[in-house]
Amino acid sequence: MQNTNPVASGQSLLKAELHVHIEGAAHPELVHRLAERHGKNLDAFMRDDGTYIWSDFTNFLACYDKVAAVICTPEDYADLTEDYLLRNADEGCFYTEFFLSPDHVALMGMSYDNLLEGISEGYERAKAKSSAQGFPLEARFIVTCLRHMGPEAAIDVARRVAARPHPLVTGFGMGGDERLYSQRAFAPAFTIAHDAGLACTTHAGEFGNPLSVIDALDHLPVARIGHGVRSVEDPDLVRRLVDEAIVLEVCPHSNVALGLYPTLAEHPLPILIEAGVLTTLSSDDPPFFSTSVGKEYDEMAVANGWDRETMKGFTRRSLEAAFLDEATRAQLLDRLDRS
Ligand code: ADE
Ligand code: ZN
Repeated sequence: MQNTNPVASGQSLLKAELHVHIEGAAHPELVHRLAERHGKNLDAFMRDDGTYIWSDFTNFLACYDKVAAVICTPEDYADLTEDYLLRNADEGCFYTEFFLSPDHVALMGMSYDNLLEGISEGYERAKAKSSAQGFPLEARFIVTCLRHMGPEAAIDVARRVAARPHPLVTGFGMGGDERLYSQRAFAPAFTIAHDAGLACTTHAGEFGNPLSVIDALDHLPVARIGHGVRSVEDPDLVRRLVDEAIVLEVCPHSNVALGLYPTLAEHPLPILIEAGVLTTLSSDDPPFFSTSVGKEYDEMAVANGWDRETMKGFTRRSLEAAFLDEATRAQLLDRLDRS
């Protein structure tokens, strides 16, 4: 495909993705393949053109669960991980962090070990294929609890992760319906995960107002916030994010698709950057929001007139904030500097 934006497109600019939910990354072609594999019907949630059927946050989450229900074996998770990482590599993305949800896989009768087996296999296949094509890639995994399943279920997830250390699982987080419970209610789960050596992030300031971000910073051991964009509504909070060097995993197309902002041009990312907040660019659930990591970089560059160095800054901040060992971080930063 022809590059439409020579600043950011294709493999020419190295990119990193810190905020993508693994089931939400399932490309419609892959979902069709898996549905055929398991004799499942997609009509209830996918149109003929491959777009997913939902209209607001509540039924987006329900549609997400239906897509997740098509991914039901370790081999499916291996195929999904490989497929997504290779698509990302095609767009120049050399580092990806996926959110994993043991609660979703449990609904399909799979254990956390089954999930680890699948994603590790998919990662190794993608890494080997991409390296053979001269574009080595890395990925890590952040286990998430689901907010709408409540604090007790979150403790269960945290205990399972803490009891089963894995070199690719480097973080703990929380997604799901931000309108239920407080962040504080999940402090016991986050403490278990953090004490086990996992770096933490949580979704806040997406459907919650700035108080949800304050609640997270006051009570959870988080270094990053998923979204966090509504912090812009509270100048004191913006100053706190800067002072505490909290990184926001910003997902512009997701925010517009879910109705937080009417257009990309009205997205507050430039205001947050101007204020000195550390921000990264991610795709959240790419096919649900007709996006990809490459599209996030390309369209934000065009919408704001950002040049190549500015876009490279997003990748640099992502690597600096990545839940990654220092040797690998240094290696990836060096590759970025030399690009
Ligand atoms: N799970 C998948 N996408 C999500 C989002 N944008 N917010 C909260 N939970 C999610
Ligand atoms: Zn998310």
